[in-house]
Amino acid sequence: MLVCVSWIENGRMAERILIVDDESAARAALAVLLKREGFEVRNASDGVSALAECTSFRPDLVLLDILMPGIDGFEVCQRIKATPETRLTPVVLITGLSETGDRIRGINAGADDFLSKPIDYDELLARTRSLLKLKQYTDELENAEAVLISLALSIEARDPYTRGHCERLADMSIRLAGRIGASEEDIKALRRGGIVHDIGKVAVPDAILLKPGPLSRDEMDLMRKHPLVGERICEPLKTFRSVLPIIRHHHERFDGSGYPDGLHGADIPLTARILQLADVYDALTTDRPYRKADVSEIAFEIMENEATQGWWDRELLSAFREMIREGRGSPASPRA
Ligand SMILES: [Fe+2]
Repeated sequence: MLVCVSWIENGRMAERILIVDDESAARAALAVLLKREGFEVRNASDGVSALAECTSFRPDLVLLDILMPGIDGFEVCQRIKATPETRLTPVVLITGLSETGDRIRGINAGADDFLSKPIDYDELLARTRSLLKLKQYTDELENAEAVLISLALSIEARDPYTRGHCERLADMSIRLAGRIGASEEDIKALRRGGIVHDIGKVAVPDAILLKPGPLSRDEMDLMRKHPLVGERICEPLKTFRSVLPIIRHHHERFDGSGYPDGLHGADIPLTARILQLADVYDALTTDRPYRKADVSEIAFEIMENEATQGWWDRELLSAFREMIREGRGSPASPRA
């Protein structure tokens, strides 16, 4: 059985619960109880229709019976948790009394909680409310992240020359990180960092951001504040903690001549060093207002010269060049 709930009462959205059970009497009993408590309820009688409801109804909670014809509850639960759009939807598995094996399989499938048959309705309501509260918090967190990502992409969209830059950057950075054996945490940070690293440009006016000629001293000073502004914007979000060093340090240089902190060499966080190589490469291989794009090999010649000047991490640059040469880099970049 799978249950999902939502409604509007007293000016707030009702939570949506999906009940999944092949026995119609069990579904009906749960639906009556949950509707009476103000939830919006839908039913599904098998695994396939449950998964379809998860996509269309977007339940806040799923009450899922294990034994069903076709796809069983474990499989449904696993698929819900493996789908990015539904992975945070709480799933309560309904098991037989003292079925320890079922519980272990359920935990492995990603179930959030269990209810034993026969169902104690007070227990059901208590667990439902507690899981829905948790879901509300994760929704708020996800919304905050989504706002930051949207803001970052809208800033990128202000400049027609950099459109798609963030996605390419994230893509190349993740692959370079994977190639050199960076940690999962670093790879996750680069996925977000690729998108939001320039979010601080929200404070830079279009007249400066899109200026085709060289920037004046004052304009340059303002532009150079974007890593610190970006860090401040993302700081309140705990899930962005590992992204902050990327945002703050993506304009540092290996010889200490970068900004905002003038960090040297390995003091620059690895994730920031990875992102800046992808950033420079993408800038060189796409048209910009101030110059036409260079082809990949010319871009690398320029970057090698800059590494000789002391700007970039040589070892990392070699790994990046190798990655691009092998044809596994920058697929979205027109000139790579
Ligand atoms: Fe930047």
